[in-house]
Amino acid sequence: MIVEAWRTQYNIYRPHSSLGRRTPAEYAKLGSATTSTLMRAGLATGDPSMKADTSGEGNIQIYTVVVVSSSVISALKGPSLSYLLKVFGKKPRAVLLCPGPVLLSRQVKRAVNNTAIGHRESAFSALLLESVAMLKPLVGIESEESTYEIAFITGSGTAANETILSSIGAVGPTLVIWQEQIDLGKVEEALRRKCYQLVALVHHETSSGMMNPVAEVAQLAHRQGALVFVDAISSIGAEVICLEQWGVDVLVGASGKGLSAMPGVGILVVKKSVLERHSSTSPRSHYLDLHRHFRFMQEHAQTPNTPAVQVFVSLHASLKEITKRGTERSRQVIRDRAEFTRRQLTRMNLQYADYESNTSSVVTCVTLPSWLTFEDLAREFKTEGIVVYEGKGVLKGKIFQIGHIGALRKHDTRDALRQLRKVMRRFTEAEHEPPIPAPSESIAHALS
Ligand SMILES: Cc1ncc(COP(=O)(O)O)c(C=O)c1O
Repeated sequence: MIVEAWRTQYNIYRPHSSLGRRTPAEYAKLGSATTSTLMRAGLATGDPSMKADTSGEGNIQIYTVVVVSSSVISALKGPSLSYLLKVFGKKPRAVLLCPGPVLLSRQVKRAVNNTAIGHRESAFSALLLESVAMLKPLVGIESEESTYEIAFITGSGTAANETILSSIGAVGPTLVIWQEQIDLGKVEEALRRKCYQLVALVHHETSSGMMNPVAEVAQLAHRQGALVFVDAISSIGAEVICLEQWGVDVLVGASGKGLSAMPGVGILVVKKSVLERHSSTSPRSHYLDLHRHFRFMQEHAQTPNTPAVQVFVSLHASLKEITKRGTERSRQVIRDRAEFTRRQLTRMNLQYADYESNTSSVVTCVTLPSWLTFEDLAREFKTEGIVVYEGKGVLKGKIFQIGHIGALRKHDTRDALRQLRKVMRRFTEAEHEPPIPAPSESIAHALS
């Protein structure tokens, strides 16, 4: 009884130095005034909640629960939002500005959360068939009576690539074109010197941001009787692909880049005639057996093994969004982000890889000024939740990449560029040299 009386006195009536010589009751009133101020400012919705926690050994914990409405969040500018989050001790929202994995939209996340289906259920088959139908315009399959088949494999983009190379590519020699800037003369010469079964090339070279001339290479390959295999892993959904028009025989894509879904599904697009021609080829791998995947798709609208169902759901939901928005409109959104970024970089006197009409809109490769390391830059970005990637291979330490794909919000790119400007100011105000960009040829030079 005495203890209870003491506790009440301590928790309600006694002033505490930690509360500015106020009693807990007075402090709670002050708190609710703060909350109502926040409510008037439009920062809080619902019931303000002040709670004096009297549990434990007389320790007092006072919480102000602020529910910030999403409309207010989106109206807030980046820095004011991150300030608000810092005040309330929250980490800023993660913003993935790398060329995959990418941010998911609210609708995609909702679909993943709300869908629980088994991979042998008809609902899953329907989801696969709808995904196939929605993918067709994205890869340039326009004709009613399509000459292509589409199937899926659970795995990253590499699983899709290896499925093709270990099945169709295993039949005869493959010419892999992997150059900084494809020299069509050299390709023609190589094709004349040797009889290739398959010519493989990447549509968008993700590490440099360059688009390759697929149609021209396909023409040369077909002239010599070779099939054409295109890796469109980072371009599908973001760049124009004209499979039928270009005469590509095989194409692979992935879910977690330009298609704005979770990573983990490989997309296989193969000409029917190629599938028929190679149907008796003995597989080199059980899991990566191309024909087993297409057989299951054709006969059951299923995958042979247990697929990453949730990733398929995310892909389906994202394809629905892209279809609703329009294929071209969706690409334009990505292009706009890239163009905005490049305009701002020019204003900051920073250089980026520019291959004129062959520059992709998936990613911008920015030359690191000599006075800034990628580690310093990445650390500064990370304080605002922003993730950017460093150049790979010969571009390591020379460039960093700003990605434009995924469900980025309108202000994400702007905030990242503002942060970049801040970093530049901070580093140049210190003892560093002024921001003189590296020579314009630096990226081409590093790649050559
Ligand atoms: C063009 C291209 N091909 C293949 C890959 C490999 O894909 P993954 O890392 O999903 O296996 C990537 C990865 O970024 C890529 O950009």
